[in-house]
Amino acid sequence: MSRGSEFVVVANRLPVDRTVGADGVPRWRRSPGGLVSAIAPVMRRRKGTWIGWTGAPDEELEPFEEDGMELYPIAQSAREVELYYEGFSNATLWPLYHDVVAPPVYDRSMWDAYVRVNRRFAEAAAKVAARDGLVWVQDYQLQLVPRMLRELRPDLRIGFFLHIPFPPLELFWQLPWRRQILEGLLGADLVGFQLPGAAANFVRLCRRLLEARYVKQDVFWDDRVVRARAFPISVDVGELNDLVGRSDVQERVQEIRADLGDATVLLGVDRLDYTKGITQRLQAFGELFDDGRLKPGQAVFVQIATPSRERVEQYQLLREEIEQQVGRINGEYGEIGFPVVHYLHSSYDRAELTALYLAADVMVVTPLRDGMNLVAKEYVACRKDLRGTLVLSEFTGAAAELKRGAFQVNPYDIDGLKSTLMDALEAEPAEQARRMRTMRRRVIENDVDRWAHAFLSELENPAARPGRDESE
Ligand code: ADP
Ligand code: G6P
Repeated sequence: MSRGSEFVVVANRLPVDRTVGADGVPRWRRSPGGLVSAIAPVMRRRKGTWIGWTGAPDEELEPFEEDGMELYPIAQSAREVELYYEGFSNATLWPLYHDVVAPPVYDRSMWDAYVRVNRRFAEAAAKVAARDGLVWVQDYQLQLVPRMLRELRPDLRIGFFLHIPFPPLELFWQLPWRRQILEGLLGADLVGFQLPGAAANFVRLCRRLLEARYVKQDVFWDDRVVRARAFPISVDVGELNDLVGRSDVQERVQEIRADLGDATVLLGVDRLDYTKGITQRLQAFGELFDDGRLKPGQAVFVQIATPSRERVEQYQLLREEIEQQVGRINGEYGEIGFPVVHYLHSSYDRAELTALYLAADVMVVTPLRDGMNLVAKEYVACRKDLRGTLVLSEFTGAAAELKRGAFQVNPYDIDGLKSTLMDALEAEPAEQARRMRTMRRRVIENDVDRWAHAFLSELENPAARPGRDESE
């Protein structure tokens, strides 16, 4: 055990997915979602190993190197994908942690699979990590790993970061396995959340459910101190800057603008997920035409939706609903060659996304609940030109930092959403610049390197000693 990795990231997914192209040749492609966008640049800069799943069932692969990272694949059988990934992770925890915007499924065989797969990840980390090494476990799919890993390797320093919201006690209490999840997380030395409110929810639960002693956000458990802290995640500003400066990206911006005519361009970029409020934003946009506040040719909506969790029922229902909505709006207001909504159910590379951000006049980010939302920060990071406006839901973590520059909105309030879209569409260049400057200051100061550094240095050197015990 004297050899091994000093730094190990454990996440359900590897940063690359295995896909098979139209030519039948398998290749690696960047995995979807904010976790990979944030951790991949950090991992490229540090030497370490990333333990995760390739995204395909029943795939046994040897460790390999890709894009400057050491990758250690974990296999999942088709049944485990169904019960652990699509089931407990994405039909139970995902909706429960996002304000139950869809009903969570509670199923014992899903839970059993979650325990089994978490153990597999913990055993892999125990094998790969060097003595006294640092292991950073990511997200809701792996909440049991910290405790399992500590039992196997008490020498390790273990951090955990939750990329999604952590629910209030009143919701978490529903979970039949609530105690096991909390005890799992308490195996870590440091548990990181996006917002201070989530860290407070966690500490409150430890106190109420486990009767754990605590001081501020330090929980005393098993003769150890477990720190709960907020670390708002961010984007790789340097990477986006480089992309903005590329001539091929700038040419692509001109092409997109030329294709869309003179219309004002509204843009949505999301995984196709019911938490993202895509139907609400399309409804608001469609009603602006119904009301005559917008005329065809005056504005177009480009909605990019990456396919996501396609075998989970709620995702299938959402896809059907969005396709119907887009069909209705275009049927009503589109003309030959000029739809008013361009809906693209596909994933794009970073250069194309950057070009889209630069081509957009209004970026529309309207989740019903979102831990952070990196798309909002990516848009701001790209707009060096100080043009464009951001419509941002109050229910995103990003709103805490960007609220002064964004046009804030409650996505449940369709009339409010309509008037906010109009305000954002009509903002004068001077106002756009003032708002964008305010938001850019925050994003540039707090980029993803700073986030990773803050988390890892807190894990390596606890900032403050615990004070008075507030539970006594
Ligand atoms: P989530 O993690 O829930 O998917 P975030 O907004 O935090 O939401 O992160 C999404 C990440 O995925 C961003 O980095 C964004 O650029 C990327 N992304 C979203 N949609 C697409 C797409 N259609 N093609 C490529 N990347 C995408
Ligand atoms: C969010 C989650 C990640 C997840 C990603 C993509 O960002 O926080 O943990 O990896 O969505 O979802 P998927 O189910 O495709 O991994």
